[in-house]
Amino acid sequence: MNDILGYKGKNVVVTGAASGMGQAAAQLLVDLGASVHALDIADISVPVEQSLKVDMKDAATMDAALSELPGEIYALFNCAGVPSPPFSALDTVLINFTGLRYLTEALIPRMVEGGSIASIASTAGMGWKPNLQRVRDFLSLDNSFDAAVKWLQENAAEVPDGYGFSKQCIIVYTMSQAKELAQQGVRINCIAPSPTDSGFMTKLKGEGQIPEEAVALFLPSNGRYATGEDMGSAVVMLNSELARFVSGNNLPVDFGYCAEITMGQRDDLLGLA
Ligand SMILES: NC(=O)c1ccc[n+]([C@@H]2O[C@H](COP(=O)([O-])OP(=O)(O)OC[C@H]3O[C@@H](n4cnc5c(N)ncnc54)[C@H](O)[C@@H]3O)[C@@H](O)[C@H]2O)c1
Repeated sequence: MNDILGYKGKNVVVTGAASGMGQAAAQLLVDLGASVHALDIADISVPVEQSLKVDMKDAATMDAALSELPGEIYALFNCAGVPSPPFSALDTVLINFTGLRYLTEALIPRMVEGGSIASIASTAGMGWKPNLQRVRDFLSLDNSFDAAVKWLQENAAEVPDGYGFSKQCIIVYTMSQAKELAQQGVRINCIAPSPTDSGFMTKLKGEGQIPEEAVALFLPSNGRYATGEDMGSAVVMLNSELARFVSGNNLPVDFGYCAEITMGQRDDLLGLA
């Protein structure tokens, strides 16, 4: 097959590869001939080149994985993440953003020219504009878990929604990094998925006790939950050769949900317009 997406024989790193969107991305990348290096706290079933156990809120486990990963990386897929509830606001920000930033900044020096980073944010992070100063304060900290924990504990009252904040951080971080990475010939983007049928959704509705009717308010007008494959495909597309001039974007992957809000066609429950 013509390698139109440009992944054949390239080293790619996928976090959250055990389930849902990350699993779907990892499988697609294997099918496309990439050399997939998969990271997760859980067991990984996709037949990848290398599976490594990491806990995204534990720097030591990421340092151990970093020592095993290849010296040259073409693409990074930041897919690992958890919902809050049931996870605490603190753990959610540490896993969803601080760990993502820690790993990303450790891998950037290994990224080849023409390489690319794609992360999974959320529609829940689309209301970042009114909160930009707080997000910037958090992003201006040292890239360390100690600094993040201290700030999050001191600012707990201002960050009641750990999940939304973690995703706002991914979106603002993506846009903030684009300039410096462009000088290295590396791209960075993220996606904002609408509700997706995955382990995450099971946890949110089950242990998090969020009722079905509440989640359904955020479904696109096709009335559908997305699949992990719907989102895995979107990040594989963004990190591919076909998107080689696309950087610094947050792409809503929501079958038009955000567009409907921007056009005043449905209630702006997340304050994103
Ligand atoms: N499912 C949704 O409705 C939805 C919507 C918007 C955004 N998202 C985001 O999509 C991303 C992927 O989630 P998903 O829906 O595929 O859910 P999922 O639960 O199926 O997959 C998440 C993966 O992350 C891994 N993970 C969780 N905590 C970890 C940790 N501490 N260290 C390492 N790995 C860890 C899990 O083991 C799992 O393999 C997440 O960042 C999530 O926030 C999900």
